[in-house]
Amino acid sequence: MLEKKLVIGLFGFGVVGEGLYKVLQSTPSLPVSIKKIGIKNRHKKRNAPASLFTDNLQDILQDKEINVIVEAISDSAAGYYIVTTAMKNGKAVVSASKKQIAENLSELLQLHLQTGQPFLYEAAVAASIPILRNLEEYYDNDWLTAFAGIVNGSTNYILSNIFKQQLSFKEALLRAQQSGYAEADPSLDVEGHDAVHKTQLLLLHAFGTIVAKKDILFNGIQHVQPCDIQFAREKGYTIKLIAQAKKLKDHTIAGMVLPQFLTSDHILFQTADAYNGITIESSFAEQQFFYGKGAGALPTASALLSDISALQYGYKYGYKKWKHPQKTKWEARFYLKVYISFTDQSTIPAAEFEHIETWHIQPHHKYVIGTIHTQYLKKSDWWKTAGNSLILLPDAFVEDRDIKRIQLKSLAIAEN
Ligand code: HSE
Repeated sequence: MLEKKLVIGLFGFGVVGEGLYKVLQSTPSLPVSIKKIGIKNRHKKRNAPASLFTDNLQDILQDKEINVIVEAISDSAAGYYIVTTAMKNGKAVVSASKKQIAENLSELLQLHLQTGQPFLYEAAVAASIPILRNLEEYYDNDWLTAFAGIVNGSTNYILSNIFKQQLSFKEALLRAQQSGYAEADPSLDVEGHDAVHKTQLLLLHAFGTIVAKKDILFNGIQHVQPCDIQFAREKGYTIKLIAQAKKLKDHTIAGMVLPQFLTSDHILFQTADAYNGITIESSFAEQQFFYGKGAGALPTASALLSDISALQYGYKYGYKKWKHPQKTKWEARFYLKVYISFTDQSTIPAAEFEHIETWHIQPHHKYVIGTIHTQYLKKSDWWKTAGNSLILLPDAFVEDRDIKRIQLKSLAIAEN
C-alpha cells in the first residue's frame, strides 16, 4: 500500500495534462500534489508556475519523493519508456495513453505483475466513463457475453454534426480539434485506430483476452460519403463508429470496429457529439448501458483523478479473467451483412460475397448490400480504399453456423 500522501510527477501538459492540473487545483481536499511536470519544450508559455516544468525525464523518474507517475503524452515510444522505468523504479503509474498501452499490453502487464506496482488507465477508454474498473471488479462472476460502444469522441462529434448541423466533414473535424477532442494526429481518430486501441483494452478487461491490432477488423469514418448520409436519412438510420465484441456459441470471442447504421430504437442512437456510450451484456444482468463524455480535457482528467484517488487505498487491477485457467480465444471468422458504396464497380469483388441482396447503380449513388465473410475482408483492403465505403447493416453479425439459413433465404429471394 502506498503512503497516504501522493507526490505526482506528471508527463505531458497538453489537453489532458493541463486538465489534470486544473482538476487537482479544484480538489484541494485530496492529499495529492504535483511536484514536477515533464514537457518537451521548456520555452512554451504554460498556465502553471515555470518552476514546475522540466525537460529532463530523469528529474522526475529518479526523484525518490515522487511516488506516482501520471503519463499523458502522445509519443508512444517515450510514453513506454516513462511508464516502464517508473514501475521499475518503484512508482505507481496512471496513464491516459491508449495507443501506447494497447501496443505494449503484454509487456506492461508482465512488468506490472513483476514489480507489483499499480498501473491504472481508466482515462484511456471512453474518458469520463468508469468502464475498466467496473469490468474488472463488478463483472467477475456474472461474466460478460458482449459489448458494443461508441468509444471515440471525435468521430462521434464529426458524424453527429454532419447529421444534425449539416456541417462538412472537414469543418466538423476542425471543430473537434478546436474543442480538444481529437488526437494530436487526428488520423488516429478518423481512421479508427484510436477506437481499436480502446477496444483492445476493453477486450482484456471484459473477456481476459489480449488481441493484437492486426487481428481486429477495423476501419474509421474517413470514406463515409454524403450519399451514405443521405441513404441513412432516408431509412431513418444514423451512422456511428461502433466497437463491438461478443461471445459466439462456441465460446470464442469475435469483434470489430467499423461504421454501422443504427435504427432509431438502438440504445446508442442518441449518443451524440463527444459523448461515448458502451452497452455490455452478461448472463444474469442482461444489457446495461454506460454513458458519458468520451473526450476533452476535464472529462479525461476526471478519470485520471479517480485512478489517482484509488492509489490511496492501493488499488490495482486484478486481471481475474486474464488469469483464469480457461482462456477465451479470439475468433476472426464470421459473416457480416454490409452496405458498400463505391464509385467504380470494377473494384467490388462480387464473387467474394456469400450472397448479394441489392445492386444499386445510379449516377450519384452506387452501392451493394450483401453478406460477406470476414476472411475476405481481412485478406485485402479494397473495401477501405478511397471511393469505397463499407458500413455495417443494423443486424450485421452472422455466425458461421448461421450462414446456411441465410443461403436458403437468398435462394428464396432469387426464386421469387
Ligand atoms: N481523441 C480521443 C477521442 C480522445 O476523440 O475519443 C479521448 O480518448
